[in-house]
Amino acid sequence: MVILKSSTDLVGLREAARIASEALRIAKRMIADGVSAADIDEVLRDYIYSQGARPSFLNYEVEDKIYRYSTCISIDNEIVHGLPLKSKVLKAPMLVKVDVGVYKDGYHADTAWTFALGDVSDEARRLMRATKEALYRAIDVIRPGARISDITYAIDEVARRYGFRPAETVTGHGVGLELHEDPIIPNNPKDLDKDGRLRRGMTLAIEPMINAGTEEVITLPDGWTIVTADGSLSAHYEHTVYVGKEGPEILTEDIDG
Ligand code: MF3
Ligand code: CO
Ligand code: CO
Repeated sequence: MVILKSSTDLVGLREAARIASEALRIAKRMIADGVSAADIDEVLRDYIYSQGARPSFLNYEVEDKIYRYSTCISIDNEIVHGLPLKSKVLKAPMLVKVDVGVYKDGYHADTAWTFALGDVSDEARRLMRATKEALYRAIDVIRPGARISDITYAIDEVARRYGFRPAETVTGHGVGLELHEDPIIPNNPKDLDKDGRLRRGMTLAIEPMINAGTEEVITLPDGWTIVTADGSLSAHYEHTVYVGKEGPEILTEDIDG
């Protein structure tokens, strides 16, 4: 179900988004050789609680599974839903993707960023640039009356221009009162089903995930981690965006610079 938000809701959404963005900044500062994904997860969890909020992902139910962590931390070929395990120890060069959701006073915000640890390859740098550009191009098309597929095609166009492909099956989504609301926003045009139009008051998690190689994905036996089928690198950037009367209002923050 699509849930339209009022200007009162927007106040709550902005606060959740502020906390989620600050959590990503904390993650950025922590990323270094020898730090584990569990270390980052614990620090972000504690920060989120310190703000009178709670992690949206913790105990989140998807189908018959329950997610037991506060963040998703995905490395290199892991596209999304990587588990923040103690055994996942950072070591340069690595692409580290941190995804965090924050629930505060009835509102969820959802944001993710890709960080380069050490001297990553030129291809990895290009992939980061392409995916971030896809995020902002997709946001550019947002206005009342635009189609969901306009977002999908914007992401696909940028990916292809760089010689990359948006990952199949993984999508953006509505966000706000629930972590995942309608509409589903495919990253890959193959996943477009019934199209729909954006309406003022929608709040959307726009989250291109772009693979350097094949667009095909595999879910690991842990039941969560989604990886590229060919082992190629993947990048992920996600903003929570409000569909305003005149166009998009980006609620989460750019973590670079
Ligand atoms: N990464 C997902 C998103 O951005 C949410 C994670 S759900 C969890 O939409 F259950 F895996 F935590
Ligand atoms: Co997310
Ligand atoms: Co999301």
